Amino acid sequence: MDKLIITGGKQLSGELRISGAKNSALPILAGALLSETPVTIGNIPHLHDITTTMELLGRMGVQLIIDEKMNIEIDTSTIKNFEAPYELVRTMRASILVLGPLLARFGSAHVSLPGGCAIGTRPVDIHLDGLAKMGADIKVEGGYILAQAKRLKGANLVMEKITVTGTENLLMAATLAKGKTVIENAAKEPEVSDLAHFLNKMGAKITGIGTDILEIDGVDQLGAKDLHYNILPDRIETGTYLVAAAMTGGNITVKNTRPSILDAVLEKLKEAGAEISTGDDWIKLDMKGKKPQAVSVRTAPYPAFPTDMQAQFTAMNAIAEGVAVITETVFENRFMHVQEMQRMGADIQLESHNAICKGVEKLAAAPVMATDLRASASLVLAGLVAEGDTMVDRIYHIDRGYDHIEEKLAQLGAKIRRIPN
Ligand code: EPU
Repeated sequence: MDKLIITGGKQLSGELRISGAKNSALPILAGALLSETPVTIGNIPHLHDITTTMELLGRMGVQLIIDEKMNIEIDTSTIKNFEAPYELVRTMRASILVLGPLLARFGSAHVSLPGGCAIGTRPVDIHLDGLAKMGADIKVEGGYILAQAKRLKGANLVMEKITVTGTENLLMAATLAKGKTVIENAAKEPEVSDLAHFLNKMGAKITGIGTDILEIDGVDQLGAKDLHYNILPDRIETGTYLVAAAMTGGNITVKNTRPSILDAVLEKLKEAGAEISTGDDWIKLDMKGKKPQAVSVRTAPYPAFPTDMQAQFTAMNAIAEGVAVITETVFENRFMHVQEMQRMGADIQLESHNAICKGVEKLAAAPVMATDLRASASLVLAGLVAEGDTMVDRIYHIDRGYDHIEEKLAQLGAKIRRIPN
């Protein structure tokens, strides 16, 4: 397994381009299964989860053509099976996103249950309940979801909990259902809206985009000639580099991003002492060489502070001035990074859903590893400010969700290298 070695102590400065959003690309690639005509998706990030999604679609018989600029053309006319096998779902839970589209368009889906994962139990009951309310016959056998429906029918769905991929699955299913579907208490994450805009470009009739009530008038078929859709920039990648710069007292400009979808994160960075300026598609952060102030955050669904930025802010608080509390309300077990940071000298105490962080003067390098994507990234950030060489192991988690992280950090002046296995 590849490892990253980070030599701490460099102040980050310079410019960086943000890649397309992982959590938009995954549902949009799955959503392409709904199209009768080939579609091309652009601004696709270079990530392991994208490769896994392509493998998943490829095994179904879907034709994929990828060019050197990471545009992917998807042609579903050759599809021959409707299965998402365990060995792929196991490595990427988002594979569950093929369930809604397969069922809606082909009337059948055979998708492995994702099972537990490092950040909590993460059930898919809300996805399944919603599809059942739309008339699907759903059985769970041998670890697989077997779903059948002649044609789904519109339904009123009130989501018991806000779920991002749950909303996306049901939204995709509803586009081809007979009649009208209303999804109440829908997730409002920008990636859900991005998917909805993409589906509308294919001919879907979705209104209420960006609100917590999505209304979908089902249509008979989807597809638009020569459709090319560019996915939105990654707000979590953006936030991660901004925090990295803030931790090092640095000064960076991130380009090709969208500041308007990062309000909660930018507010917290300002509270930490960062000077922030923004344009339509760029954000400049300047710490003027100062150490950050500790900031308390509470994660919750969008537009509140994202759980996917929680670990990075924990890393920042570890070396900030003062005491702050990080509260995780979305996932039950998303603090694996804390133990590893403690091994680097951080003073963080866990009390149920809270991490109480007392900033220390300096972290000390140590070999560390984590079992999820954002936790692994937070350890890289910790390494940037630790004394000595931090070795982050199991970085395949990082490669799932960060496009060329070591190249991008090196471009900002970090001393970081990858040790291939
Ligand atoms: N939940 C249920 N039942 C369900 C679905 C969800 O109880 O049927 C619960 C979950 O267990 C969790 C909460 O609802 O406690 C919210 O989970 P959600 O379903 O919103 O998470 P997700 O859709 O599985 C997506 C992102 C995650 C991100 C979360 C929250 C994708 C592919 N993944 O996951 O991204 O943390 O929303 O914003 O969009 C990441 O990128 O590192 C990542 C983990």
